[in-house]
Amino acid sequence: MSEDEMLVEKALAGRDHAYAPYSDFKVGAALLTAAGQVYAGGNVENISFGLTMCAERVAVGSAIAESARDWQLLAIVADSKEPVVPCGACRQVLAEFNPKLRIISSTLNGQTAEFRLDDLLPYPRQGILE
Ligand code: THU
Repeated sequence: MSEDEMLVEKALAGRDHAYAPYSDFKVGAALLTAAGQVYAGGNVENISFGLTMCAERVAVGSAIAESARDWQLLAIVADSKEPVVPCGACRQVLAEFNPKLRIISSTLNGQTAEFRLDDLLPYPRQGILE
């Protein structure tokens, strides 16, 4: 199994933990560090819809909780017609740690897409605070 396939499996496992009673749309995400550690998560919805955490940001929180910041790859899995692309908020949060992150996204029926975060979010730094 390739590294990409392994990470997609971890994202699928993260999806099993998703809490998505409002949209009924479960998403899983997994981050792989340069050292080979994996941090996964599923989306966490809230009755106050705007407080929902996407799977990507749950995976980020799980990685940062263990000081794992050196990510090289993100896998996302959802039961959608086409592979999902991270939302704007997640792009900005991901770019905090690796603005050039490679992202692979898959549907449950095997459609895949690949992105680079610097294509999805150019100019992430806003020119402030540094
Ligand atoms: N969602 C994610 O977790 N990641 C994405 O990339 C797309 C959207 C979640 C947010 C919400 O819980 C549900 O999917 C519907 O938008």
